[in-house]
Amino acid sequence: KKRIGVMTSGGDSQGMNGVVRSVVRMAIHMGCEAYAVYEGYDGLVQGGDLIKQMHWDDVRGFLSRGGTLIGTKRCMEFYERPGRVKAAKNMIERGMDALIICGGDGSLTGADKFRSEWPGLLEELVKTGELKQEQIEPYQHLNICGLVGSIDNDMSGTDATIGCYSSLERICEMVDAVFDTAASHKRGFVIEVMGRHCGWLALMASIATGADYVFIPEKPPGVGWEEEMCDIVTSHRSWGKRRTIIIISEGAQDTELKKITADQVVNVLTEKLNLDTRKTVLGHIQRGGLPSYFDRWLSTLQGVEAVNAILDATPETKTPVITIRENKIERSDLQECVALTKSVAEAIKQKDFAKAMKLRDVEFKE
Ligand code: F6P
Repeated sequence: KKRIGVMTSGGDSQGMNGVVRSVVRMAIHMGCEAYAVYEGYDGLVQGGDLIKQMHWDDVRGFLSRGGTLIGTKRCMEFYERPGRVKAAKNMIERGMDALIICGGDGSLTGADKFRSEWPGLLEELVKTGELKQEQIEPYQHLNICGLVGSIDNDMSGTDATIGCYSSLERICEMVDAVFDTAASHKRGFVIEVMGRHCGWLALMASIATGADYVFIPEKPPGVGWEEEMCDIVTSHRSWGKRRTIIIISEGAQDTELKKITADQVVNVLTEKLNLDTRKTVLGHIQRGGLPSYFDRWLSTLQGVEAVNAILDATPETKTPVITIRENKIERSDLQECVALTKSVAEAIKQKDFAKAMKLRDVEFKE
């Protein structure tokens, strides 16, 4: 029986438990055995109790739970070759030669590297006497499949990462709550949202809540943004708005790539407009809590597709990542998606913001 491991890695996101449930049940349905690797790559490197066989009932109730019930960790040891050798040994000892990882682009790139070093890692273990040649013979190919789990929606090649819509939902709920108190006091609020280097959460939340102004890393405001923002706020107030909501992505910056902070924006509104303005940093409430219907659906269908991709794989198959494009669940080339994601970051570094937006598939207008 083929043994398939499932792991969550990097920052947790809503829907990761749905992935574990779906992979475990689909693997069993297809006549395979399923194993959960606890605590991300750390579990793969340490082995022992951190790799457990999962049965149908072990994932009962997973679908509606937030976070990741099998844990996650940023594991430095796996990023060094000796750590990956240990991980390979743990897999072979359990008869596993397939791994499905749900995480961000860094976690998925790590997995692809692991695959590229296989079976060299096994040969190393034979040389050091830790494994016997007969033990490694049946496991000459490692099959890896990635699923993108992140609230940031920062991976190119997929329309949505698992977790991003739950997070967006939560942000909107919180902004609405701030909205009520802001309107009561006629105050201004600068609300900082997560997203790392990606402005998707901030941009979508600003549209969904009717915010007055938004700061995102991919399209920094031009020189003199302070005046522009104040003019917009003044005109909105003149139309009768009792509150001002500014959404700022945690990665916000100006055209010279200098960070723009929420405090800075608060000061501008306070000093230039004499507006009673407060800052709200939403923090990790954006990441925890219930997955939305969309993330339950996405994680379930993508988990099924990941198991199918593992079962269809040949030694020639490039490592797939499961994506969703125009509402269709697809298999894409992991390396291509990672390269495209990196090219967005590169364009921003070069201050070519129009290109960055284009690469993110957002129309750019001066
Ligand atoms: O990548 C997900 C994310 O929540 C980002 O939006 C944020 O910048 C980061 O992780 C926070 O990481 P940590 O939980 O390690 O502080």
